[in-house]
Amino acid sequence: MILNIDVEVRKTGKYGKGVFAKRNIEKGELIFNWEGGKIYTAEKCLDLPKEIADHAIQFEEHKWIDTNGFGRYANHSCNPNSGFTGKFKLAAMREIKKGEEILWDYEMTENSNWKMNCKCGEKDCRKVIGAYNNMPESVRQKYNRYISTWLVKQ
Ligand SMILES: C[S@@+](CC[C@H](N)C(=O)[O-])C[C@H]1O[C@@H](n2cnc3c(N)ncnc32)[C@H](O)[C@@H]1O
Ligand SMILES: [Zn+2]
Repeated sequence: MILNIDVEVRKTGKYGKGVFAKRNIEKGELIFNWEGGKIYTAEKCLDLPKEIADHAIQFEEHKWIDTNGFGRYANHSCNPNSGFTGKFKLAAMREIKKGEEILWDYEMTENSNWKMNCKCGEKDCRKVIGAYNNMPESVRQKYNRYISTWLVKQ
């Protein structure tokens, strides 16, 4: 599926590159689709090369998918503006204004041994991000359906 979302990838000055909206994106709009990307199989995420582990998304217990597209440069926030529908599609959870960074919560897809010290700076930052199993129930409820279907039955 080709998505016609106008974004730019540029340095964030905070944690490498990031993805920024070049137009207003409406709530519910699809932003990126990982389908068609390269699939990796591993016992645990950290068995994969670091470049893959840091950019691919998990979609089954032992499977990750990477992409050549801008999706691999989208950063994490503990107060994100986008989330997952199905296993592969990122969508806007609220209206995203032109110029805003597109951010999702990596625990919406990941549930392995991969970990990251979060620098999102949000007041409710969870500090160490990596496994859906550690996502608080209150956060799961806030995201409602925007969590990968490999982690929750919807
Ligand atoms: C999917 S990549 C995102 C693109 C990445 N910024 C880049 O330049 O390649 C995930 C990596 O970005 C960085 N990152 C993303 N969100 C972050 C956050 N909230 N705090 C700290 N680092 C973050 C971490 O290095 C993480 O391993
Ligand atoms: Zn955070």
